[in-house]
Amino acid sequence: MRRVAILISGAGSNMAALVASMTADHPARPVLVLANRPGAGGLARAAALGVATALVDHRPFGPDRAAFEAALALPIAAAGADLLCLAGFMRILTGEFVDRFAGRILNIHPSLLPRYPGLDTHARALAAGDAVAGCTVHEVTRALDSGPILGQGRVPVLAGDTVARLAARVQAMEHVLYPAVLRRFAAGERGRLDLP
Ligand code: GRF
Repeated sequence: MRRVAILISGAGSNMAALVASMTADHPARPVLVLANRPGAGGLARAAALGVATALVDHRPFGPDRAAFEAALALPIAAAGADLLCLAGFMRILTGEFVDRFAGRILNIHPSLLPRYPGLDTHARALAAGDAVAGCTVHEVTRALDSGPILGQGRVPVLAGDTVARLAARVQAMEHVLYPAVLRRFAAGERGRLDLP
């Protein structure tokens, strides 16, 4: 059984979808939800779901990313987590941290990578006049938003879309894609999943 730590910074809707999926014959279980922001709504949500939580506020560490990550590693080790799922985790991890968990960190990104790495993905897709948008689950490597793609989910861009409306449509797909990819990944499958 794989032991999953989910790292969040915000509302935790992807976290909740992942936790809900890890039941019955799923090859993994959630052992920790870890946030870097005291106000992360996902912390209360995780506690309500019965998952252990931890908070490591990045701010007291200032620019010292290594010290922040050393603190981050403590609850991960204590929980015995062997797989990390970044789910709206808004801190860039150093190469040293990524290397320590090489091949064992997944991330969900709200665009069809390699289009639109980084921030403001929905605004950029709308500005480009894209007819299709979506999300990507990928392995985390040293290069930001560039690790091997494990799955993508596509949604249409509709006439009159705003960033909020498109984001909501993409998020609904995220909540399907991420659990589906995690299940396959935890079972040792490395093939790429495309939805729909
Ligand atoms: C998701 O859209 C994710 O793709 C992006 O941040 C958002 C997190 O939302 N990077 P939530 O915290 O999972 O609700």
